[in-house]
Amino acid sequence: MRTTRPSKKLTFGFFEHKWRKAPQWAQATKKIYRAWYLKRYGYHAAAGLRRFLRDKTRILEAGCGGARDSEFFAECNGSAEIVAMDQSPSALKVASRTLRRFKNCRVVRADITKFRGQGSFDFISCDQVLHHTPDPAATLRHFYRSLSPGGVLSFSVCRKKNPRRDLVDDLIMERARSLSHKQLWRLAAASTSLGKVLHELKIGDVRFGGRKYADIQRFIHDQVFRCWYSPDVDFALSMSSNYDWFSGNPRFSASELRRMMRRGLGPHKVLRFYEDDATISVSIRK
Ligand SMILES: C[S@@+](CC[C@H](N)C(=O)[O-])C[C@H]1O[C@@H](n2cnc3c(N)ncnc32)[C@H](O)[C@@H]1O
Repeated sequence: MRTTRPSKKLTFGFFEHKWRKAPQWAQATKKIYRAWYLKRYGYHAAAGLRRFLRDKTRILEAGCGGARDSEFFAECNGSAEIVAMDQSPSALKVASRTLRRFKNCRVVRADITKFRGQGSFDFISCDQVLHHTPDPAATLRHFYRSLSPGGVLSFSVCRKKNPRRDLVDDLIMERARSLSHKQLWRLAAASTSLGKVLHELKIGDVRFGGRKYADIQRFIHDQVFRCWYSPDVDFALSMSSNYDWFSGNPRFSASELRRMMRRGLGPHKVLRFYEDDATISVSIRK
């Protein structure tokens, strides 16, 4: 199985390419992702997130991309200082546009694994990013140091799926690491086209290993080969999701993540440890 980590240089290049190709990603997926964020971190509805954020004064979104989450936080709390941080200039261009109506937000170009001089935060949210950093335990350590006492850190990682998908993912990712951004984008286009064709076959109600899949595309995607496709979003957006996946990020089982948390975090209380098909989402209090 693959153990090497994506280098920062490659990751930076991949995401800069993605944000240039699909700048509309964050806004176009806002509804889906907000609902998913609330569910994974246990808020159930926006009112829950609003209650949680009420007493927060300094918030960091680490690896903000188009700053969809910072926008949500700013709508919930109009007085906390919110820092939306990313390394990609193209992402920050989108983030600045998204956040310009909020006086309490600022965007910062920095490496989330080692930023300095930002003070401490009482809430850090790092969603869909940690596994893209070369040493996630070290990144967690850095976040932990940047939290105020009693502060909360929420983060997610990609989750291992099953032996078949994991093996195929590892084989493809090993090869994909030597591809250019353009080649990787073409790989994402091909896998999304496969997903689309499978979806259009309209073979429904697939049962396998005690699970029921809505259609054959969902089954192949979950059990064999990453070919995410949704007819509800623009084709390029389905593609950019597959592109992220193939860009070399490691996946974790629950026990591997717990081990990493022991290495990366000082004393803390786990507030939430939630697994779904694609991710493991965690909140801890320092
Ligand atoms: C998969 S996107 C997620 C964006 C956003 N959190 C979301 O959920 O839409 C990962 C983002 O993390 C950023 N990123 C990855 N490694 C980073 C690093 N070391 N420092 C700053 N940003 C980083 C990328 O530029 C990219 O915008």
